[in-house]
Amino acid sequence: MSDGLVTWAFPTTIVFGAGAVRTVADHVKRVGGARALVVCDAGVVKVGIAERVRALLEEGGIAAALYSDVDPNPVEKNVFDGVAAYAAHGAQCVVSVGGGSPLDTAKLIALTVTHDRPLVDYDDATGGDRFIGAGVPPIVAIPTTAGTGSEVGRSGVVTLAATGRKTVIFSPHLLARAALLDPELTRSMPNRVTAATGFDALTHCLEAYVSLGDHPMADAIALGGLELCAAHLVRAVEHGDDLGARGGMMKAAMMGAVAFQKGLGACHSLAHPLSSEKGMHHGLANALGLPAVIEFNEAVAHERLDRVRALLDPSAKTCAEAVRRLRARVGLPEGLRAEGVTEADVAKLADKAFEDACHRSNPRPCTREDLASLYRASL
Ligand SMILES: [Fe+2]
Repeated sequence: MSDGLVTWAFPTTIVFGAGAVRTVADHVKRVGGARALVVCDAGVVKVGIAERVRALLEEGGIAAALYSDVDPNPVEKNVFDGVAAYAAHGAQCVVSVGGGSPLDTAKLIALTVTHDRPLVDYDDATGGDRFIGAGVPPIVAIPTTAGTGSEVGRSGVVTLAATGRKTVIFSPHLLARAALLDPELTRSMPNRVTAATGFDALTHCLEAYVSLGDHPMADAIALGGLELCAAHLVRAVEHGDDLGARGGMMKAAMMGAVAFQKGLGACHSLAHPLSSEKGMHHGLANALGLPAVIEFNEAVAHERLDRVRALLDPSAKTCAEAVRRLRARVGLPEGLRAEGVTEADVAKLADKAFEDACHRSNPRPCTREDLASLYRASL
């Protein structure tokens, strides 16, 4: 910040524990909603969680309607369709249920209910937060994965039709008023999704910890999140019904997103085009790019990266090795080639990654060529 001041804030009310979802109607009433739009995706409907949340709301005296058409990588249409569903129901608040996609989209639906500029105007890369004011309807967020931490984050990511680019929209006004972290809701996640989303949480903690900026509170939370990943990720993948491990990863995901208000880094800039161009799962994209980014950053952030190495795997020689070992243990592939990315994709991916704002807080500045080299090193 140009005036030398920094701002630190951790404001979300968080309810944690098995059965936390049962408090949903109380929290909706607390934030002033009598009619709620439940925003989720087809996966949340399929495992029965959407209907359970809807029923809990109705039992608690809240009229609830469902909007479940959020795409895995959300697009503008998902936001506009959600706003239409909100209006048709006469809703006063949004209850978001699912992974990062529904949770992010719910924020942008709430935003668009009271803000009528084109979404591109709110792009964080162009300072769009200045157009976002109070008056965004309240959001209660219920995560069903343990990765994005979107339930405590202040950003939504959407691919815009005009640019085809994953665009981050960021404002404190997009924060959920309550996050209900119920480990039972993550128990149905398949192994590979647990591993990939867990790597998103780990990447948030790691990138936040080494990112530019002075934020000792975010740093401490990032380290705490990394400790939880080290303790619980493998077990959550191998023993999916272990609620202790599931809960540990939910905490890590939440803490990662609290920590990355400090900033992220080059790994997220590499990951965003892998999703928008190649349809890759966001957490997997991070897992595949992270070791190369760590090696790139060693020259400027060795002390911090060595502390991360010691937390993740004291027997590893480098932080990148610790991450590669953990990635192999949870069954994720070793490089982008395994997911169909080739040298021919690198130029376009690097163009898009350079446009992405995340690398601006990477501890080592990145040129477009650096990002291209990082893709190549991750193939
Ligand atoms: Fe992420």
